[in-house]
Amino acid sequence: MKTVTVVGARPQFIKAAMVSQILRSTPNQEEVLIHTDQHYDKNMSNVFFQELDVPQPNYHLGVGSHTHGVQTGRMLEAIENVLLKEKPDWVLVYGDTNSTLAGAIAAVKLHIPVAHVEAGLRSFNRQMPEEINRVLTDHASDVLFAPTQAAIENLHREGISEEKIYLVGDVMYDAALHYGAKAQQTTHILEQLNLSPQGYILTTIHRAENTDNPVPLKAIFTGLAAIAEKLPVVLPLHPRTRHTLERNGLLETAQQHLHLIEPVGYLDMVMLEKNAGLIVTDSGGVQKEAFFHQVPCVTLRAETEWIELVELGWNHLIRPTDADAVRSGLLNAIALPHPSTIPTHLYGGGQAAKKIVDILTKRR
Ligand code: UD1
Ligand code: UDP
Repeated sequence: MKTVTVVGARPQFIKAAMVSQILRSTPNQEEVLIHTDQHYDKNMSNVFFQELDVPQPNYHLGVGSHTHGVQTGRMLEAIENVLLKEKPDWVLVYGDTNSTLAGAIAAVKLHIPVAHVEAGLRSFNRQMPEEINRVLTDHASDVLFAPTQAAIENLHREGISEEKIYLVGDVMYDAALHYGAKAQQTTHILEQLNLSPQGYILTTIHRAENTDNPVPLKAIFTGLAAIAEKLPVVLPLHPRTRHTLERNGLLETAQQHLHLIEPVGYLDMVMLEKNAGLIVTDSGGVQKEAFFHQVPCVTLRAETEWIELVELGWNHLIRPTDADAVRSGLLNAIALPHPSTIPTHLYGGGQAAKKIVDILTKRR
């Protein structure tokens, strides 16, 4: 069986790592990896291939950063060329980025079966580029690997045929279990940054709705600066956010108040997450990793796709309308006791990648 996997953005390298390893260690399986180069900086791309033992891509498409239409269109054309040459049994796509959508459309138009990992997530906010990518990819896919029960229900509501849908759990949970132990042994990031366990807040911000608009951007960074007077805020800065802070004249103030660092590799990130007193983010993946490592989380958005963590009290949503909403919301979160329930079944048992490979093999 030949599978073409399409990745391109940071979270996809992490999501694909476990599935790729299992695919490549199973007899009679061949994986061909396409990297669209949606992310291309060393610390947004290469570092993950090195650390997570993801095999080097067979194809680099060199697409880079553009408007949505140009970026997705260039990917579509280049992926189609590879698929025509490779003639795979499956095209495997992950998550909700432009690379995901391009991979799914290229395949479905050539009548090559598409499998979508992390299917069924919805924010119900059609302003988010990710929401459009998810809905279109799910409806173009032949097999949908849902991580949660809520995702299954979303797919049923949209009328997607039952026989295409599988509840497999979350490949990011597989990765957190697998690499969590390795991180503990290999990284020294806490010492390097002079941080003590539970003595800091870990933050990531990159969502388009929080960075393209100066109102939430300013609210978030002013609110974080106020909190940093109580507890240091460590923030590995996504290149998108660095650019928009610069454009809006906010970078220098942010540097004065916050511990801004370059984006880190996954193993360093896991260590920073495990030891944080609180995680504040607008990332999809980081919200869940906070829960995997039992660290309370605040998500700076109006809604989330991972609603089960909000219902359980592990994640609190704060809409970053102004600096005071951010500051007071974070102060409340710091004061709250940890939730007493830690359900371990929410994201599967760490076997999602194996289930995915088994199902692809069976359905070929
Ligand atoms: C993309 C995904 C988002 C995902 C995120 C993960 C889409 C529409 N968005 O958002 O769903 O959560 O990746 O991190 O697919 N840049 C660099 N170097 C890089 C990559 C990006 O400088 O290696 C800068 C460029 O200025 C670029 C900007 O970041 O224009 C945004 O990059 P892009 O890939 O378009 O979107 P992300 O915000 O990264
Ligand atoms: N991550 C990382 N280094 C960083 C920031 C994030 O390794 O400096 C990891 C994080 O642990 C998670 C993934 O990147 O596994 C999340 O990616 P991101 O927040 O970029 O995208 P999203 O999940 O929102 O799509």
